[in-house]
Amino acid sequence: MESVVIQGVELRLTPPDEMRWQWVGRQELKRQLLAAWAVLDEQDHALSPRLVGKPGVGKTTLASAAARALDIPLYVFQATMDTRPEDLLVTPVITDGQKLRYTASPLVSAMIKGGVCVLDEGNRMSERNGPRSRRCSIGGATSSPWSPASRSTRTATSASARR
Ligand SMILES: Nc1ncnc2c1ncn2[C@@H]1O[C@H](COP(=O)(O)OP(=O)(O)OP(=O)(O)O)[C@@H](O)[C@H]1O
Ligand SMILES: [Mg+2]
Repeated sequence: MESVVIQGVELRLTPPDEMRWQWVGRQELKRQLLAAWAVLDEQDHALSPRLVGKPGVGKTTLASAAARALDIPLYVFQATMDTRPEDLLVTPVITDGQKLRYTASPLVSAMIKGGVCVLDEGNRMSERNGPRSRRCSIGGATSSPWSPASRSTRTATSASARR
């Protein structure tokens, strides 16, 4: 597992997901997502769009195909109703030797590596914990001072609309 050292602390990175799906039809949707992620100026941040649609309509596939078009790694965070804000960042684990080991979430790993992060089923998180929360905004997280690579992070939240 790859790790980086930030301010003297070793951080283990989550490996990227190997989804190599093709996006078929409706190319304008892929173009819209790529446009939302476009960074034209050094000071720009990519937008963090929310992909909404019925289950199985292809939201995760779309984000995966767009990441592939940009040729950057894809990280999928599977959100549940129990996902807490801190789960989106770094998880400390006590090892056998009673030491703390820190594991970066897919979002933080994407920030460090300059990849795409899909917050899959983000609608399952409670409003308090979700991407709109002030405590842990996905958009805000991309402005982390840790790494210049964080500027090139692209995020999307997918949400199933059961209508
Ligand atoms: N436009 C498309 N091009 C290629 N494959 C597609 C497309 N739309 C759907 N699929 C296929 O349909 C299946 C479901 O897609 P996917 O998992 O991306 O849906 P989803 O909207 O993320 O579903 P959920 O809401 O359950 O997370 C996958 O096998 C995917 O490859
Ligand atoms: Mg999905």
